[in-house]
Amino acid sequence: MSKNLTGAGRVAGVVGAPVGHSLSPLIHNAWIAGAGLDAAYVPFSPSETGFAALIEGFRGGVISGLNVTLPFKEEALALADSPSAAARAAGAANLLLFKDDGRIAADNTDGIGLLAAFAQQAPGFDPAAAPVAILGAGGAARGAAAAFLAAGAGEVRILNRTLARAEAIAASLGDRVRPLGLDQAEQAFAGAGAVINATSAGLSGDGGLEVPLAVTPAGCVVMDMVYKPLRTPFLAQAEAEGRRTVDGLAMLIGQAVPSFTAFYGISPPSGVDVRALALKTLGLSERI
Ligand code: ATR
Repeated sequence: MSKNLTGAGRVAGVVGAPVGHSLSPLIHNAWIAGAGLDAAYVPFSPSETGFAALIEGFRGGVISGLNVTLPFKEEALALADSPSAAARAAGAANLLLFKDDGRIAADNTDGIGLLAAFAQQAPGFDPAAAPVAILGAGGAARGAAAAFLAAGAGEVRILNRTLARAEAIAASLGDRVRPLGLDQAEQAFAGAGAVINATSAGLSGDGGLEVPLAVTPAGCVVMDMVYKPLRTPFLAQAEAEGRRTVDGLAMLIGQAVPSFTAFYGISPPSGVDVRALALKTLGLSERI
């Protein structure tokens, strides 16, 4: 938050349940302070049934916009008047913008964040050069699949423990998506340019997924959306196989960049190390 917040300040925020763990207020307020904006970014946590009322209350530009996190991303898309192509393809919105005329625009910047993370941590990576394998078939996996398709990937292989959920994504995103069972990982990893973990396995600090990353090509880039720990067992396994890796914190910061620009009308200031701030808050250190 700006130290000089006035009555003319511009307000945005994040809505989720729970929202207390969200790093978005830390990231956006650090950028606000760095840019010296008259602005604030605040957390909102309605009850699971209170989301729609909260959004309706903001119609007409009371605040400039909201990031949306679990469990409201699908409902956010449904409530919006004008969803972007990215939000429709992902089946979810992580960004709502309240227009002065009362309309609500929805977007999804997770895909931009995902590709920005690859660009930053695996320079030269080309999302269109080879098939991508995505582990999981929840909202995160669907969003990643949509982002890679939009970036020109010729084939997206969705692997899931429950095959029917992978098949549902393929049915809605088209014939460049190939649904597979988690037990078909060897087949899915063969020739892959990237492997992305979009499951929640390992989130609670358990061992995570046991998958044969050794069969990926030497140039394959391995990414984990989980960022706590930063170096997940999945990424550690990839590094042990000599693969380049991309972490979930880079994606989190990457999705925040276009959100900030949409809320406050300027790009985030350079020179504010939000990654270091986030790591400190999470009690983590850089991967070695
Ligand atoms: P989100 O919408 O955040 O992506 P989700 O819909 O809860 O979350 O999806 C979680 C994903 O992680 C699913 O693909 C789930 O597999 P199932 O569809 O078979 O449930 C996957 N997942 C969670 N724990 C897992 C585990 N221990 N092993 C394999 N997959 C797991």
